[in-house]
Amino acid sequence: MNAAAANIGVVGLAVMGSNLARNLASREGNTVAVYNRSRTKTDELVQAHPEAGFVPAFSYEEFAASLSKPRTAIIMVKAGGPTDAVIDELVKVFEPGDIIVDGGNAYFPDTIRREKAVRETGINFVGAGISGGEEGALNGPSIMPGGSDESWVTLGPILKSIAAVADDGEPCVTHIGHDGAGHFVKMVHNGIEYADMQLIAEAYDLIRRGTGRTPAEIADIFAEWNTGELESYLIEITAEVLRQVDAETGKPLVDVILDQAGAKGTGAWTVQTALSLGVPVSGIAEATFARSLSSHPEQREVARVLPGPGTEFQVDDADGFVEDVRQALFASKIIAYSQGFDEIRAGAAEYNWTIDLGAVSKIWRAGCIIRAQFLNRIADAYAEQPELPVLATAPYFADALTRGQAAWRRVVIAATQAGIPSPAFSSSLAYYDGLRADRLPAALVQGQRDFFGAHTYKRIDKEGTFHTLWSGDRTEIEAEDTH
Ligand code: 6PG
Repeated sequence: MNAAAANIGVVGLAVMGSNLARNLASREGNTVAVYNRSRTKTDELVQAHPEAGFVPAFSYEEFAASLSKPRTAIIMVKAGGPTDAVIDELVKVFEPGDIIVDGGNAYFPDTIRREKAVRETGINFVGAGISGGEEGALNGPSIMPGGSDESWVTLGPILKSIAAVADDGEPCVTHIGHDGAGHFVKMVHNGIEYADMQLIAEAYDLIRRGTGRTPAEIADIFAEWNTGELESYLIEITAEVLRQVDAETGKPLVDVILDQAGAKGTGAWTVQTALSLGVPVSGIAEATFARSLSSHPEQREVARVLPGPGTEFQVDDADGFVEDVRQALFASKIIAYSQGFDEIRAGAAEYNWTIDLGAVSKIWRAGCIIRAQFLNRIADAYAEQPELPVLATAPYFADALTRGQAAWRRVVIAATQAGIPSPAFSSSLAYYDGLRADRLPAALVQGQRDFFGAHTYKRIDKEGTFHTLWSGDRTEIEAEDTH
């Protein structure tokens, strides 16, 4: 095969990288160069998949020489140091106009830094979120690339050839925005994923403890829910996990799994970033904290002595409660997604990105972990109103919240009275009530802040900034706005 035969290259051939390389190679028009630091993986991949027509390279020089210009390579190694190391090597052998893509779960500020540094060499750097796990990488992920407009000219058609395809035939990839925009949106995707998973877990816990249904029976409930407005990959796999029986003990697998949830950090990034942007992401935050709480067995052990309601939680109308939980789950899910899209909008404003929220919702319809029919409704909402200030107020969602809020309240009340933790359900309801409140107790907070810190306050009845002389005669004066 001639030297510069490949139009795309992959560096890093662990499962995700290998699967992505195989996906690329399976598409018409792609010839794929592959490189891995340890040669064994390269040899194994090439030997295992002769049909792929891979162009193996055993040095970065060979890798560069095997790529036609503009050379385009996707890095699929661990985020952080390993990614930086590969970038440094590729910059040595690539030339201006070439394209380096980081396909890992990089933290978007790192991507902004890397894009700026690499751009100084004339080489394009693209941070691309790739969602869908190993199966998605092989058969069609949802892809969220950032980077320059120039890079998209070459990269766009290649990524479109491997992305998942939504029901309307559209590939689940779009040029999200410049520099770190792609990794920012992938980060929020993961945050929403955390909220979605936590809400489903709370729904399961409430039904199990409130109705005594078995995991297998609850699996049937989720399978039924998956035929309606809650249809999604996460609901589908939840039914499968709940149906699974542990071969060793014969018990439901979910009952032998240790109840301490791990996290690789993308949910935490989403919450930290939302805090810095001043965007409430209650569902995502509570989902992230719920994982943290579950992972403190030492505290949970000592806290067991603390009293609870003391009464056995048993609902009178099990079917009615299950339907209430379904409605509470859908309402809370709407809030979590509404907050996630709020964060994307705020991030775009902060980092000078132009991000089309409708386009983001459309590429999440297939391939990614949060894929769901629900995303079609979000796409419809942004198509109707691109500048929609609050997703939850779009007619479809407002109607669902109107229909579901009574059930939602009943579920949060029942969980509270039963002493069953439902942090995502209850924080989402609190956010909903806060958002629609005529008056918030923030007025009192302003008074407190002014009392101890002279931080001033505004008034509802006149312009200006005010401070009360609390330690003096308590008259009110006009003041400089000290925030
Ligand atoms: C995806 C997933 C993936 C995520 C892992 C681990 O979009 O394919 O979100 O990127 O990193 O599932 O996630 P946590 O360990 O943070 O739950």
